[in-house]
Amino acid sequence: MLLRSTNIYLRKTLIKDAKKSTKWLNDESVNMYLSTKRKITIKERGKFLREHLNAPSERTFSIIVIDSNKYIGNIYLYNINKTNHVAEIGVFIGEKSYLRKGFSTEAINLVTDFGFQELGLIRIYAKIIKENIPSILCFNKCGFQLEKNYLSSNQETILLSKVK
Ligand SMILES: CC(C)(COP(=O)(O)OP(=O)(O)OC[C@H]1O[C@@H](n2cnc3c(N)ncnc32)[C@H](O)[C@@H]1OP(=O)(O)O)[C@@H](O)C(=O)NCCC(=O)NCCS
Repeated sequence: MLLRSTNIYLRKTLIKDAKKSTKWLNDESVNMYLSTKRKITIKERGKFLREHLNAPSERTFSIIVIDSNKYIGNIYLYNINKTNHVAEIGVFIGEKSYLRKGFSTEAINLVTDFGFQELGLIRIYAKIIKENIPSILCFNKCGFQLEKNYLSSNQETILLSKVK
């Protein structure tokens, strides 16, 4: 399944994507605000993807730039709650030269539309470490609004959400 906008498309993440995403997730500039901070191996990443790609509570997409057909990052809905119609969203761009070009904005808009229209979600939220200003501004730009500030594992965290 493909989700497409002006400059990118999203396809389902494949096990073969593990090689690049392992490299990216081991880069401190990518992982400093993510939950996966420790070094991971391709084998671990492959195992993670095998366990998660077909999980009913998750949808993981690879972000591909249309012009170059280059895989640049990932975006995912997880903790999909089919009773409350709520899910969490996360995103990262691994290819640094593709940062700040609006690709995450397009990806977030595609995935929120998909969640609202195809999965029947009514609320999508992001939990973001307070210092992660690029991410907060990016989700703001996509219409996510502040719900609350709270402490998670002793870290100041911000909950942003978008309602259908
Ligand atoms: C946060 C992240 C996904 C943004 O991706 P991106 O593709 O560069 O974002 P966009 O180009 O769509 O930017 C959208 C808006 O976010 C803000 N933004 C993005 N990067 C920024 C930066 N380095 N500094 C300040 N604002 C920034 C801007 O408001 C920008 O809009 P503008 O360009 O019109 O000013 C990217 O920096 C990243 O992968 N970070 C590491 C992983 C991470 O922290 N993920 C979020 C976990 S919830």
